[in-house]
Amino acid sequence: MVSIENGAIAVAASCHGAAAGKTIATEGVVLPPASQSNGAQPETDPSRKRKMTSLPLEVGTRVNCRWRDGKYHPVKVIERRKLPSGGANDYEYYVHYTEFNRRLDEWVKLEQLDLNSVETDVDEKVEDKVTSLKMTRHQKRKIDETHVEGHEELDAASLREHEEFTKVKNIATIELGRYEIETWYFSPFPPEYNDCTKLFFCEFCLNFMKRKEQLQRHMRKCDLKHPPGDEIYRNGTLSMFEFIAILLFLIEYFMSIFATHDTVDGKKNKVYGQNLCYLAKLFLDHKTLYYDVDLFLFYVLCECDDRGCHMVGYFSKEKHSEESYNLACILTLPPYQRKGYGKFLIAFSYELSKKEGKVGTPERPLSDLGLLSYRGYWTRVLLDILKKHKGNISIKELSDMTAIKAEDILSTLQSLELIQYRKGSMSYVRILRSWIVILKPQAVVALKSMSVN
Ligand code: ACO
Ligand code: ZN
Repeated sequence: MVSIENGAIAVAASCHGAAAGKTIATEGVVLPPASQSNGAQPETDPSRKRKMTSLPLEVGTRVNCRWRDGKYHPVKVIERRKLPSGGANDYEYYVHYTEFNRRLDEWVKLEQLDLNSVETDVDEKVEDKVTSLKMTRHQKRKIDETHVEGHEELDAASLREHEEFTKVKNIATIELGRYEIETWYFSPFPPEYNDCTKLFFCEFCLNFMKRKEQLQRHMRKCDLKHPPGDEIYRNGTLSMFEFIAILLFLIEYFMSIFATHDTVDGKKNKVYGQNLCYLAKLFLDHKTLYYDVDLFLFYVLCECDDRGCHMVGYFSKEKHSEESYNLACILTLPPYQRKGYGKFLIAFSYELSKKEGKVGTPERPLSDLGLLSYRGYWTRVLLDILKKHKGNISIKELSDMTAIKAEDILSTLQSLELIQYRKGSMSYVRILRSWIVILKPQAVVALKSMSVN
């Protein structure tokens, strides 16, 4: 096993995504909201006006589009491009389905659009500006506090430029091990990859190439069979590798620049960490337009066989987090999703927090799938304890037992509608269904009787 190396690179990635809703769609897994799934025309918003349709459609146009379910859904035109062999008005359009997550944005042909439903936004520019400038407090702090020579100016204009540049997916598919995977979001690959829509990754060192033959040549000489760092967990064919890295991740003027502080042993981590960042960004919709030079720990989960250790997912965490974050980014690669690996990675992050004697929480905002996974994990862990527990238990005790932050415990119980504050008093809480719980002023929850469905 390889020992932990200091001083290579890490990703600083704050995750961004919509709050959990009914629309959770990944490749081939689609749950559209019931009210919009019948193909009926959505109600017209009075803030928008209809206009005579002239072709080609303008960027910003709102129109209904026939999706892969055969039904029409409202979209916004994000970009357009001329068809190579087409006439003056022959364009295809990159659209965002307004009811769905951005990972379902795609290029569509004119015939998929219902031109009778065309609308233009009156307040288009204002609305766009507000969205583009939305940043988390944490991201803001990163920009404010991290001084990088010559790159201090991250103003609204460069944020807008960045938004503009990343709005269309650049890489459509990747090949990784035995899988061909459709990507979800833009990732800032170096400029020499601008002309590619497909990339070929070595599944062991995560180097990426433009052509299959290059990958085949690479595979003949690549001697890595598992991620760098220490194997810190093994159970059957599952292994977890931990490595540490430091990364300065910049995206400005449409470029990403990785600067690292190498030690003698740092090179392997640096290259792997950098490649992992490029790969992960294809499935994470976070904003990376800020500088970060913190030390990060990476935990890479693999399924191992006689050919080597095949990455199924990972999470990263800041080595020292002021905000008590115990996880920065989490990803399960799409072919391995919905098999429980996400929950395993989350559980692992809390086990690490327990070992450190700390409580932890994931970095915000959570993506839709991130929130779903965390809610599921928190619910299960808390209800398991409450089911077995006799007598009083405080939120603090629950937090100490699980390493889950008190706020997350409360919000989970609230989302399950198990807690209700009494009018005019913060001191009493009732847990609904057959639970009676009293929260005393010192935040003690008394469980008098309980049964969980
Ligand atoms: N639709 C509906 N439910 C889903 C879907 C889906 N597409 N995918 C997962 N779920 C549910 C599962 O049913 C399960 O529910 P349960 O707790 O009630 O049993 C729960 O989510 C977790 O499922 P897992 O199989 O344990 O998780 P998975 O391996 O699929 O990984 C993850 C979850 C990591 C969020 C994955 O979806 C992913 O990588 N998404 C893209 C990247 C991302 O959004 N990461 C989170 C960003 S936020 C942050 O990093 C702090
Ligand atoms: Zn390789």
